[in-house]
Amino acid sequence: MLRLDKLLCEMKVGTRSQVKKDLKQGLVTVNGETVTRPEYKVDEGTDRITYKGKPVSYQKHVYYMLNKPAGVVSATKDNTCRTVTELLRDTGHTDLFPVGRLDKDTEGLLLMTDDGELAHRLLSPKKHVEKVYEVGITEELSEADARRLENGVDIGEERLTLPAKVEIADGKRIFLTITEGKFHQVKRMLRAVGHEVVSLRRVAMGGLELDAGLAPGGYRELSEEEIAVIKGGHD
Ligand code: URA
Repeated sequence: MLRLDKLLCEMKVGTRSQVKKDLKQGLVTVNGETVTRPEYKVDEGTDRITYKGKPVSYQKHVYYMLNKPAGVVSATKDNTCRTVTELLRDTGHTDLFPVGRLDKDTEGLLLMTDDGELAHRLLSPKKHVEKVYEVGITEELSEADARRLENGVDIGEERLTLPAKVEIADGKRIFLTITEGKFHQVKRMLRAVGHEVVSLRRVAMGGLELDAGLAPGGYRELSEEEIAVIKGGHD
């Protein structure tokens, strides 16, 4: 059970004082009855709440997809560089963090949320969540090198990298799918087969695809279907 004013505030209907005013004015109903008391307790799972006639559905957590631009660090705080959390400041959510890290010069899909449990599951090495990268390299990748990347290469860790998938888009641009997240993994894998990465962009993670309509720096909330996709299959 939650206080009605707290729930409305969390759902970004307005600030606490605005919400209190709106309640007094009779703009909020619970199960069809107007409720004016801010401290009124609601069951966020079952009670039907409306604000100015529109339903307010309670979501415990928020989920955003960010097209991370190059030059921004995947952190919540940094003394010198711009962070991905700063890019989402206008959302009004102050407790968002990135699910995993992309290098400063890497672009693409970064999930931003306040759901620590989901982040933990997606990042767990045991879950083998698929991440797809579009990789630009200076020389054409041979079929033989593609097979080496797929079978596992030595990047200086205890074991070879896990099996990966390679799709050669055109010689100098490939799609690499991996299920691990070692530090600089893609760059190190390409280096292991004698290639230098010149551009790197994550295009999918855990079945969630980067929205092609999002310019670098752009973000949007995930749809209910996308939330189901990202939450599914990792239990
Ligand atoms: N692999 C890398 O080398 N860099 C990234 O940012 C992500 C994967």
